[in-house]
Amino acid sequence: MSPISVTKFCEKNVIKRNQFNSIVRGLIVSTVFLLFTVQTVLGQVGVPRSYENGMVVSADQIASDIGKDVLKQGGNAVDAAVATHFALSVTFPVAGNLGGGGFMVLHLNNGTQQTLDFRETAPSQTSQEDYLNSSGDPNGRTRKGPFSVGVPGSVHGMITALQKYGTMPLDLILEPAIDIARNGFRLNYQQARRLNLSRNKFSKYPSSDLFSSSEEDSFQEGDLFVQKDLAATLERIAQFGNAGFYRGITAELIVKQIQKLGGKMTLNDLESYESVWRDPIKTSFKGYDLLLMPPPSSGGIAIAQILNMINEYDPEDYGWNSADYIHLLTEAEKRAYADRAYFLGDPDYVAQPTPLLISEEYARDRFQSFDPRKATPVDSVSHGDVPFFEESMETTHFSVVDQKGNAVSVTTTLNSAYGSGIVVGEAGFLLNNEIDDFAVKPGVPNQFGLIGGKANAIQPGKRMVSSMSPTIVTQNGEIRMVLGSPGGSTIITTVLQVFLNVALFDMNIQQAVAAPRVHHQWRPEEIYFEPFALSKKEQFELYIRGHKLKERDSYVGHANCIYIHGNGLLDGGADPRGLNSVSGY
Ligand code: DON
Repeated sequence: MSPISVTKFCEKNVIKRNQFNSIVRGLIVSTVFLLFTVQTVLGQVGVPRSYENGMVVSADQIASDIGKDVLKQGGNAVDAAVATHFALSVTFPVAGNLGGGGFMVLHLNNGTQQTLDFRETAPSQTSQEDYLNSSGDPNGRTRKGPFSVGVPGSVHGMITALQKYGTMPLDLILEPAIDIARNGFRLNYQQARRLNLSRNKFSKYPSSDLFSSSEEDSFQEGDLFVQKDLAATLERIAQFGNAGFYRGITAELIVKQIQKLGGKMTLNDLESYESVWRDPIKTSFKGYDLLLMPPPSSGGIAIAQILNMINEYDPEDYGWNSADYIHLLTEAEKRAYADRAYFLGDPDYVAQPTPLLISEEYARDRFQSFDPRKATPVDSVSHGDVPFFEESMETTHFSVVDQKGNAVSVTTTLNSAYGSGIVVGEAGFLLNNEIDDFAVKPGVPNQFGLIGGKANAIQPGKRMVSSMSPTIVTQNGEIRMVLGSPGGSTIITTVLQVFLNVALFDMNIQQAVAAPRVHHQWRPEEIYFEPFALSKKEQFELYIRGHKLKERDSYVGHANCIYIHGNGLLDGGADPRGLNSVSGY
């Protein structure tokens, strides 16, 4: 910091020069202490669990074990991923689901690299007007109640992936999930607590009775949680495949539930739902090749853009979470999130300049305004100039690698915790509230503070833009990392930081996942950071450059990742922010 800016800072904050000096001395002492603490914490949580053959890392121990058992029985990574997903729909109802949607990225040992989009769609009878009041302002229906529900995609996605790349029959894959739904499982402390925290959401809907509790009779750790209706729904899926969910009894129960509450989903919406295979977004960074999710996820484009913008620099020399590093990263994030808000939407509805957005030239151009000493005010950051463009809190991630060298990265969501809170009566599963991921009105933020425009406006049958970023990283053709996280708008920056922690700072995957994180999403004009993510000295440095900073009381993401060594050894990185778990053999 130059003597002139010290003088200005003192004047602005009405402090004397000697007071300033003692503050700086205090900051240095506390920084050394903080770095020591972080080092110690990282040292303790930083030992990955390793296995030689196959691995599943998910948000729940039972689900990870079910996936691992499939691998041990000779199933491949896709078989295990599908089994893990259905198990999470039973044991992790806060986000695991039948009534939501998501994305899958695959890298198979025969070189196949693909992504599957099973994002929800807006029901055919809804329109933007359903979500605005007479003054043209949002009426709250995107987030709550029957209008918030998108047509679910998860079941279609899982069955489609299994049919194309799996090796085991669906009914066998579903057996363990059906068993734990029918016979119950013991709630852990977090599951009981989360259910209790959402009691007001469930109490609005009689069909959600099983999840509902009262102050006097709350869920406790160790309670046996039995879901007979869900078991019956899973059995119908095991017997009839997609038709067991999108047609017949289950479809009728979904439509009955939504229409009873005044919503507009139809049997035809369910029958015509399709998941879509899409080409991955590909980018390279310092010797790593990344396989990323394309739109309607914004994750792939945003991560590629940010990496391209910082690629011209040598952030590995700056030091982990130093002011220089965080300044570089957040300035790139601002520009990528501004582009997200303007350009991105469902690729089947709006044209988007994807190749240009992820090109190195565009990144160079976009980052020309970057000043290493000064934050760019967000008002002066808008979307990039794209001349040829024609306009036309809850998620869960799991990573799987099998013995044969196949990798699968899956993120799925109901959007908010327990989605809309609406359980489909007699079918036992929760419906999403994904409509809130659309831009209900230009400039009006959704629950994650994200804004959007025309490209992400609500239209019948359209998919809403997502931040979910399942990712696979290879190096010289070998799979190196399988990455992903929940966390709404922070998913993108979480996946990015886990990758960079390994790629730039040589952390092992458990350290990379555990390390405290920092986030910027263009608007609001704030760097969010987790406790211990930034020392007082780095906070001060960033403040002097013009950044606004806010310590976040909630976590930034819950990453569940795998690192594969050159000799094939698998390291699991389960996020200690929750009861995420590694299972392998
Ligand atoms: O698709 C999205 O970007 C959001 N619906 C994800 C929601 C989420 O991650 C909430 N979890 N923490």
